[in-house]
Amino acid sequence: MEPSTLPGRRPPAGGARHVGSIEAVAHPGDDPTAGRAPYLSSRLQPFTTTIFAEMSALAVATGSINLGQGFPDTDGPAEIAEAAVAAIRDGRNQYPPGSGIPELRQAIVDHQRWYYGHDVDPDTEVLVTAGATEGIAAALLALCEPGDEVVMFEPFYDSYAAAVSMAGAVPKVVTLRAPDWSFDPDDLVTAVTDRTRLLLLNTPHNPTGKVFGADELGLIARLCVDRDLLAVTDEVYEHLVYDGCHLPLAGRPGMATRTLTLSSAGKTFSFTGWKIGWAVGPAPLVAATRAAKQFLTFAGGTPLQVAVAAGLAAGPRLIDPLVASLRERRDLFCDGLEALGLPVYRPAGTYFVNTDVAALGEPDAFAFCRSLPARCGVVAVPSSVFYLQPAEGALSEGASLVRWAFCKRPEVLEEALLRLKVLAG
Ligand SMILES: Cc1ncc(COP(=O)(O)O)c(C=O)c1O
Repeated sequence: MEPSTLPGRRPPAGGARHVGSIEAVAHPGDDPTAGRAPYLSSRLQPFTTTIFAEMSALAVATGSINLGQGFPDTDGPAEIAEAAVAAIRDGRNQYPPGSGIPELRQAIVDHQRWYYGHDVDPDTEVLVTAGATEGIAAALLALCEPGDEVVMFEPFYDSYAAAVSMAGAVPKVVTLRAPDWSFDPDDLVTAVTDRTRLLLLNTPHNPTGKVFGADELGLIARLCVDRDLLAVTDEVYEHLVYDGCHLPLAGRPGMATRTLTLSSAGKTFSFTGWKIGWAVGPAPLVAATRAAKQFLTFAGGTPLQVAVAAGLAAGPRLIDPLVASLRERRDLFCDGLEALGLPVYRPAGTYFVNTDVAALGEPDAFAFCRSLPARCGVVAVPSSVFYLQPAEGALSEGASLVRWAFCKRPEVLEEALLRLKVLAG
């Protein structure tokens, strides 16, 4: 059936705007009203197709090594998995409280004190979420009025633009630029207007691997205080730092009372499929986020919450070996990419690295990534999907950047590097 003849379909909204890109965004050249999702509301039309779905399908079809999507190819610590199994057997299988089970909230409180010296109340200042993704969506839905502006850094994690759009808000981006992914402080000041409601930060940062430094965080904090902005900070990679250290935005002067911090067990413990995340912040911000969250999932994952509480209680004993192993894999993979002649932006944190394939005579990372599986059996993603989509015909920011995920076993990374040798001619 032609999309236009489907029952109940609204007429196209007339030029649905590409407000974002990403793991859930329209590709350049896509017509957002072309019938791929004829019932989808206009505010979500720009977020239909994902490069990740396309590239993962290509990986399967070609038997390629998938360094596109960011999930580990090994599970996290066995004792955490065993704690989940035991919790299921012990009958911890019904709805948890809306804020999360008490032992996980207490473990989060202990974690915040141990790592950052922050004191948090487990009853009013902690909220367990269905991954950080739900925390982001719930926070934006809770805190933004339609038309409010949200300042965020691009490139950005894919769900941000979609969540901003679902909240009826408007993204305003400040661009991080290679090689060090710094930003122009004037760009940040200019991005804030009378409509700005909040600043959405991500550190350590996907897709660049940047870990925001004390000076940068100080600047962001001063701006938030001066302009009376709220901050939502996505710190899911807080422990995956290889150079320097992670500094929470909430710890900067003036920020404790205006910052909602999000994190997740998925990255810290390599259980991305469990989707156990949390939000920590002042009681009024947590209460607002909880009000939105209760109508998204209400709550979930009771036995997994029990297991994550055990993981957090073990702390460095379980986290440090993973970080050491990821640091080794970062170096193995980045050294290998450099040996192929690629400019490598070695990440200080996360498990992603960006390269500039213009050095290979390939100015278009989209075309490069689409051809890579057939050329050598490896999948990566073009980093341009992590930027706001440019006006029709304009070149995207980051057009020649490619993102690779190195959270795979060393032998898989070595095999990928072997296959990529064809690129070196
Ligand atoms: C920056 C960032 N935030 C949030 C998430 C999602 O976290 P979760 O799986 O806990 O929803 C990811 C996953 O890749 C991410 O990279």
